[in-house]
Amino acid sequence: MSKKYLVTGGAGYVGSVVAQHLLEAGHQVTVLDDLSTGFREGVPEGAGFIEGRIQDAARHLDASYDGVLHFAAFSQVGESVARPEKYWANNVGGTMELLAAMRSAGVRTLVFSSTAATYGEPVSTPITESDPTAPTSPYGATKLAVDHMITGEAAAHGLAAVSLRYFNVAGAYGAYGERHDPESHLIPLVLQVALGRRESISVYGDDYPTPDGTCVRDYIHVADLAEAHLLALDAATAGEHLICNLGNGNGFSVREVIETVREVTGHPVPEVVAERRGGDPAVLVASAARAQERLGWKPSRADLAGIVSDAWAFARGRENGS
Ligand SMILES: NC(=O)c1ccc[n+]([C@@H]2O[C@H](COP(=O)([O-])OP(=O)(O)OC[C@H]3O[C@@H](n4cnc5c(N)ncnc54)[C@H](O)[C@@H]3O)[C@@H](O)[C@H]2O)c1
Repeated sequence: MSKKYLVTGGAGYVGSVVAQHLLEAGHQVTVLDDLSTGFREGVPEGAGFIEGRIQDAARHLDASYDGVLHFAAFSQVGESVARPEKYWANNVGGTMELLAAMRSAGVRTLVFSSTAATYGEPVSTPITESDPTAPTSPYGATKLAVDHMITGEAAAHGLAAVSLRYFNVAGAYGAYGERHDPESHLIPLVLQVALGRRESISVYGDDYPTPDGTCVRDYIHVADLAEAHLLALDAATAGEHLICNLGNGNGFSVREVIETVREVTGHPVPEVVAERRGGDPAVLVASAARAQERLGWKPSRADLAGIVSDAWAFARGRENGS
């Protein structure tokens, strides 16, 4: 059945891909985005667009909406360390306003973009949802605070809510891909080297206790992630706040990513080994068992070469102005 959804942050990377999937599933979509880090052309054709802030969501939400998918946030870990107040105001303050607007409009379903950064240093691998949450950055702390806020909203006011804790989102979906500025994610950075826009890629530490000494991360294709959001809308239950990790369950090392980019692009990618960065755990891999059990979700694009190929097609398309 066709439903009507508000997608906050739908001009950004993940929100645009999810908005496109919602449209393809026959739903009506309105994007609410202030374009602070997103792009007007990221809003899929067929979606309505409101240029505005989640802090003003009350002006835009009404009972005609069946639910909200909430992506709008600031998400640069380093910037959050330098300017924590910016992150608390937007991520937490903004979400508080959004929840209040949903409450007064009677919109009672929410899917929220949480993050692996809520866990901090893992106590074991793979990470499960019952592991301790001890974020190591203000960014992670703001996302965890929002998760707590949503738990209370579900218990007290009957919200049907799902938080999806993404690990490393990667890849692209047709015209919708990753374009953060500044870029901090490994795959788009390595692709910039392949495109000749950067001289080399820095490998921060090659003496970790991992098979090749470089850090291992869990890369999840953005289209697999999008499918989980549609399943989460169906699984959301009044009065419950369900939290699910989303990862592909397979870790890939920094060196494996660089090597895969060389293979996929056919370009040399010079690497420079640099000092370890503080706060980088050796291995961050998700257990997605709960997402499989509760959402019926299974990633179908777990192969690293496929993820890199899709990201490469998107990066080249942008370079050629298409
Ligand atoms: N990309 C990842 O690997 C990753 C991993 C874990 C979690 N997340 C979370 O997923 C969500 C989306 O991430 P992304 O990579 O697409 O980021 P993004 O920066 O591309 O998208 C965020 C969007 O939110 C908008 N926005 C920010 N503050 C707003 C506000 N107050 N009102 C209205 N719009 C606002 C921005 O303009 C942007 O379009 C974020 O909440 C992020 O924390 C992302």
